[in-house]
Amino acid sequence: MRRRATISPDTTNRTAAETGLDRARKRLKPPPVPTDDRARSRLVLDTMILHLHPARIPQRTLKWTYTWGLGGLAALLVTMLVTTGVLLLTNYTPTAPDAYLSILALRSNVWFGDLLRNVHHWSANLLIVVAVLHLLRVFFTGAYRPPREVNWIFGIVMLLLILGANFTGYLLPWDQLAFWAITVGTSLISYVPFIGGWLGSLLLGGPEVSGATLLNFYALHISFVPLSLFVLMALHFWRVRKDGGLTLPRAAGEAPVEKPRRVTTIPYLIRRETVWALSWIAIILTFSVFVSAPLEGIADPNLSPNPAKAPWYFMGLQELLLHFHPFVAAIVIPSLALAGIISLPFLDHLTDHEGIWFRSGRGRSLAMLAAGCSLALSSAWIVADDLFLDWAAWLGNWPTIISNGFIPLAIAVMVLALLDLWVDKGLDGTLEERVLFLFTFLAVSLVVLTIVGIFFRGPGMELMWPWSIASGH
Ligand code: HEM
Repeated sequence: MRRRATISPDTTNRTAAETGLDRARKRLKPPPVPTDDRARSRLVLDTMILHLHPARIPQRTLKWTYTWGLGGLAALLVTMLVTTGVLLLTNYTPTAPDAYLSILALRSNVWFGDLLRNVHHWSANLLIVVAVLHLLRVFFTGAYRPPREVNWIFGIVMLLLILGANFTGYLLPWDQLAFWAITVGTSLISYVPFIGGWLGSLLLGGPEVSGATLLNFYALHISFVPLSLFVLMALHFWRVRKDGGLTLPRAAGEAPVEKPRRVTTIPYLIRRETVWALSWIAIILTFSVFVSAPLEGIADPNLSPNPAKAPWYFMGLQELLLHFHPFVAAIVIPSLALAGIISLPFLDHLTDHEGIWFRSGRGRSLAMLAAGCSLALSSAWIVADDLFLDWAAWLGNWPTIISNGFIPLAIAVMVLALLDLWVDKGLDGTLEERVLFLFTFLAVSLVVLTIVGIFFRGPGMELMWPWSIASGH
């Protein structure tokens, strides 16, 4: 804060150089603009950095095992995606079948074209994983609670946009993989009540995936989705600063830190960010040199692969479809999950344990217990449902939306309610421990569903060992 200069009563007896006013003038004078180029560039760079970061940050927030650098990595990946995406545009034709041919040309005729495509592909997939891990870190350190609830909601919208960016980009190579994955993925839209048919044909540009869909997805992929993501990222960073910076990491049982020791952003934070970003750029480049993004034969609407699978990040949803009526699997369960995750900061708003991983030592044990229960129960349920649970046959006269939809859903909700009762009464859990337990249980269930969908489903979506699928037996 600037201090007001005061003139002492005996000013008249002093030389001009000694007056308080002069001393204040000297203090307020901006530093001279450096004359040599290096120092001037340094000044410009520092000013740019300080537009994005506060000048000083609590030293504690530099703790590596607190943020794991996941938010910064997500921002780096978005930047890499925009850069490589703009370059890819110069060699892409968004019409069928030319889209496929332009990808072939990019791979063989354009200098580093294949590498560019690989970097774009792997960064996009990595971004989903990183954004989900960042969400989990925010959840498990209690950093979503007031005053950060708005940023939590911005984050959820960004995650949806990241999924949207990946999904719309998936179709662009116009190969068999893309065509059938998008056919499976978009078929779920028809289950949206009342407007499903209309919404489906609006997005697809007709009754099924075609050249019109490619054009629609292309337009969304290069304009609406990245622009919205950019706006939200700007809001997200602004909110981090407005909410007083990051939550302060603490050890379990440590009292809240009132006046944390601060260090300057330059060099302490910037040095770490630079090393982190350069390391990830090196990892992604190296990986992209050796591992190519998949590309199958040109899209053929008459040749459906067996099994036809959705993109990997929607395989949990596709696995749900094998166990529930499509309306329940594709609409009811995702809507309940979304409503639940949005309302988390309002359900569990105690801020006592903010900044402590898993809230406490006991919270850590409860989270591990929840993960174990979920692993056992979700796997057992998937196998049992495949082998002998047959609600539709047992309740033959009932509409399948009830026998195969709401009845298994009610049973699943009852199991969750019983688990919650056990943590509440049996283990004497607090509200935040109950929320921690249920969230961990559901997050692990989603991981189990996704892994089973990706690796354990063979032809006809039969449950099989991955090695039997690979060997074709
Ligand atoms: C493109 C996606 C995202 C980017 C680029 C991004 C970036 C960042 C960055 C740089 C930070 C500060 C450093 C850090 O915590 O690592 C941060 C903090 C935060 N992010 Fe994200 N984020 C993204 C997605 C999300 C998602 C999906 C959520 C949750 C639903 C979320 C919620 C938050 C919250 C609540 C904070 C404040 C954490 C605290 O105070 O400890 N963000 N984000």
